[in-house]
Amino acid sequence: MATTAGSKGPDLTAGVPVDSISDGGTLHGHVGDDEVLVARAGDRIFAVGAYCTHYHGRLADGLVVGDTVRCPLHHACFSLQTGDALRAPALDPIACWRVEQRDGKIFVREKLPPAQPSRSGATGPPSSIVILGGGAAGIAAANTLRQEGYGGPITMISADADPPVDRPNLSKDYLAGEAQDDWIPMWPPDLYKERQVELLLKTRVSSIEPAARALVLENGTRREFGALLIATGADPVHLPIPGGDGGTVHYLRSFADSRAIVERTSAAKHAVVVGASFIGLEVAASLRTRGIAVDVVAPDHLPLERVMGAELGRFIKSVHESHGVVFHLGETVTSVAGRAVTLSGGATIDADFVVMGVGVKPATSIAERSGLAVDRGITVNEFLETSAPGVFAAGDVARWPDPHTGERIRVEHWVVAERMGQVAARNMLGRRERFEAVPFFWSQHYDVTIRYVGHAERWDSVAVDGSLDSRDASVSFSRDGRRLAVATIERNRASLEAEVALEHDRAR
Ligand SMILES: Cc1cc2nc3c(=O)[nH]c(=O)nc-3n(C[C@H](O)[C@H](O)[C@H](O)COP(=O)(O)OP(=O)(O)OC[C@H]3O[C@@H](n4cnc5c(N)ncnc54)[C@H](O)[C@@H]3O)c2cc1C
Ligand code: FES
Repeated sequence: MATTAGSKGPDLTAGVPVDSISDGGTLHGHVGDDEVLVARAGDRIFAVGAYCTHYHGRLADGLVVGDTVRCPLHHACFSLQTGDALRAPALDPIACWRVEQRDGKIFVREKLPPAQPSRSGATGPPSSIVILGGGAAGIAAANTLRQEGYGGPITMISADADPPVDRPNLSKDYLAGEAQDDWIPMWPPDLYKERQVELLLKTRVSSIEPAARALVLENGTRREFGALLIATGADPVHLPIPGGDGGTVHYLRSFADSRAIVERTSAAKHAVVVGASFIGLEVAASLRTRGIAVDVVAPDHLPLERVMGAELGRFIKSVHESHGVVFHLGETVTSVAGRAVTLSGGATIDADFVVMGVGVKPATSIAERSGLAVDRGITVNEFLETSAPGVFAAGDVARWPDPHTGERIRVEHWVVAERMGQVAARNMLGRRERFEAVPFFWSQHYDVTIRYVGHAERWDSVAVDGSLDSRDASVSFSRDGRRLAVATIERNRASLEAEVALEHDRAR
C-alpha cells in the first residue's frame, strides 16, 4: 500500500500562529499520538485526521478546495467540517478535532465524536433495495445507503464467489505478492451482518421484471424490490482462437481469477500476456516483480497509445522494457496449444501460462432481456435512472450524459463506479443529485503510477509539460482548443488541480 507518512510535525496543542497557514494551506502536526491535519479555508480553521482512509494517503500533500480536502493519491474527498468521506475511493470518514483560536494562535483541542448519519435524503424511501452486483458500484451504494440512515432491507446479489473486493489490487500489489489476502475485501466479514446487508454470493440474476418491481434468480426464485441498482460491471472479452479457453489460459476479473494466477506463478518461469492496455501491462509488471519472464503480445504499435497517446505509450513501453518485458507489437496470438503460444507472424513462444487482457464488454444482457434501454451500456439519465422507474444503474455497465464533454459516456474506472454507486444510492432515497464527477483513474507499473483525470476518447493535440523520462510530467489532451483530460507522472497536486479546473469547465 502506498503511504508517505513522514514526521509527526509540531505539537498542535501547544499553539501555532494563524498566519503560518495561508488560505487553502495545511499543516501536518500531532495531538498526542494522533497525526492531525490543520487546514485553512478563508477565516475558518479545521483539524482532521492526517491520513486518507483509502490507502493512507497523506492529506497535507493533497488540495484544499472550499471546506474539503482531496487526497493526492486517488482523489478521495473529505469534508473538513464533518470528516465525512464525500467522494470515493475513501468510504470511511476521518476524525475531527475541536479548534480554538486565541491571541493569533491555533490550538487543537479534543477529538470530536463521529458525525451521525444525516438521514436528510430519506424522504419516502423505498420499502427495500436490491443491489445487483458485488463490485465497486454495489459496495459504495450499500455503504452510502447506511451512512444516509436508510433503515430498510438491503440485499446484494453477486455472481462472484467472494464478497466485494478491492479489484484494482488484483492486478497490482496482490498479484505481485506484496499485499496480503486480508487487505483485499472491501468490508470485514462481520460488517455485512452489523450493517444488515444480506449478501447472496454465487447467485446469478437471470431477468428483471421492472413493472412488477421483481427479479428472477437463475435458480427460479423471484425477489421483489422497492428500488433496484444494476451494477453488473463488465465481463472480460474471450479471444475466439484455438486453445483460447484452454487450461493454461487465464482471464482476470475476480479475486478467484487473481488467486488462480498467483497459484500458477509458484512453478512458472515464463508467461505470455496478451494485450498491452492497463490490465495486461499491470499483470506484466506484477509477474516481473515475481521474477517471471514476460512476453507481451498486442496488435497496437505502442502500449496504451489508443487511450493515452504515443508519448505516454513510448514512455510506458520503455519502463516495462527496462524491467525485462519483451514486446511483440503489431501481432496477435493465433492459437494456444499446451505450452506453445503461436503468434500471427508465425513465431511460437514456449510459456507456462497465458494471461489474456484484451478488454471487457459491459454486462448488459439482463437489462436487454428485461426491456431496459441499452446503447453500448445501460442508458441512464443524469440521476442514474434507467428507462424503468425505480431501477438505477451504475459503474462499468452504465452510459451517462457527461456534462463535461456533452456526450454520453461509459468508462471502466474503479473510482467512477464507486462515485456512481454513491450518487445512485442517494437518488434511490429520493434525492435528485446529478452525477457530474470528472472521471479519474490510476494505473501502476512498478514504481511508476499514472494518474488520469477527465475523459478524452478523441483528441487533436497532446501537450507534454515537464519530462516523461525524468518521471515528472503532465500530459494534456485537447480537442478544438479545449482541454479534455490530463495524465500526470509524479505530479499529484497538478492532477488534483486539473480535476478542479475540469470540474469548472462544462461543455458549452
Ligand atoms: C484486475 C483489475 C484491475 C483494475 N485496476 C483498475 C485501476 O487501477 N484503476 C481503475 O480505475 N480501474 C481499475 N479496474 C477497473 C475497475 O475495477 C472497474 O471499473 C470496477 O470494478 C467497475 O465496478 P462495477 O461495480 O461497475 O463492476 P464490478 O466491480 O465488475 O462488479 C460487477 C459485479 O456484478 C456481478 N454480476 C454480473 N452479472 C451478474 C448477474 N447476472 N447476477 C449476479 N451478479 C452479477 C459480478 O459478479 C460482480 O460482483 C480494474 C479492473 C480489474 C479487473
Ligand atoms: S489513498 Fe486517498 S484516495 Fe487512495
